[in-house]
Amino acid sequence: MAIHNKSHSNHALMSLNKMRKDKSWKQKSAADFEKPDKVKILHSIMDCCEFLRGLPNESVQLICIDPPYNLELTGWDIYDDYIEWASMWINEAYRVLSPNGSMVIFGGIQFRDVKSGDLIDIIQYARHNTKFKLINTLIWHYKNGMSAHRYFANRHEEVIWLAKSNEYYFDLDSVREPYSEEDLKLALKDKRLNPENTIKGKNPTNVWQIGRLNGNSKERVGHPTQKPVEIIERFVKSLSYPGSIVLDFFAGSGTVGRVCITEGRHCLMCDSDPTSIEYFSKHLELMKKIGQSAEYKRIESINAFFNNKQGGNE
Ligand SMILES: C[S@@+](CC[C@H](N)C(=O)[O-])C[C@H]1O[C@@H](n2cnc3c(N)ncnc32)[C@H](O)[C@@H]1O
Repeated sequence: MAIHNKSHSNHALMSLNKMRKDKSWKQKSAADFEKPDKVKILHSIMDCCEFLRGLPNESVQLICIDPPYNLELTGWDIYDDYIEWASMWINEAYRVLSPNGSMVIFGGIQFRDVKSGDLIDIIQYARHNTKFKLINTLIWHYKNGMSAHRYFANRHEEVIWLAKSNEYYFDLDSVREPYSEEDLKLALKDKRLNPENTIKGKNPTNVWQIGRLNGNSKERVGHPTQKPVEIIERFVKSLSYPGSIVLDFFAGSGTVGRVCITEGRHCLMCDSDPTSIEYFSKHLELMKKIGQSAEYKRIESINAFFNNKQGGNE
């Protein structure tokens, strides 16, 4: 059931509205927020557009998705008109994002036949049909990958960061990279750099070198296109704040949910494939194995998620 206009009736949305009125919002960072004791997670098995239609307006801080692109790699790459289908979830994503919110989309640049889509199609659509702002195109560079003989072996993927407005939340300090001792000394002598920020570490830039998960990676839970925790962690830390809501409506194995548990963000996940639930259980087992807490409050419905009703299990 759609609950678009009930924002006054739940606690999370009320505090979000209060923060919007706060003029210093753009300067806020993770330290200004309290981590919840246990985050709420709703993991639904249904079509993404149906799921999105049930979410309230402006209720989500970050959307982090890795969509299908009709490459006919698996059963879920099946849409006849890619952008017609994608436009439905792009528009719904815009509606559910908070004014300070962001959407991150993984993808690539490729076309094989008329039915396939890619990030260029999405950028083109968003540019001409929505008010989204493209803040960064990130290059995810990895050294490990498949070999190739008929083309140059692929060693990067692209990720776009779209913001709903120029008032977007961005906590750079939470993802700065430490300088080596030697580089720090040099950087502190550089008059162009602010020494206060230099001590905090460097901006990780828009080229991220993070290994892909290969077959024997310890993080692997079996999903064919599972993304590394490290890359999701960067987006969750920098573009959402503790206690806010993160959404992944192409959840796959639930890597986003896993990161939300460790980072103290509430999480909405959806995938059309029921196996998504099994993959997520594997993530939880792996977390426990490495000594991380995998505790969260499981929520059973969108209504229970937003109205703080007892609708879930511990
Ligand atoms: C590329 S995978 C996501 C992998 C994920 N990022 C991870 O780390 O495990 C895309 C997912 O979208 C799901 N999917 C495809 N079409 C969908 C739809 N219409 N609604 C919801 N989920 C869908 C697929 O089942 C698949 O698990």
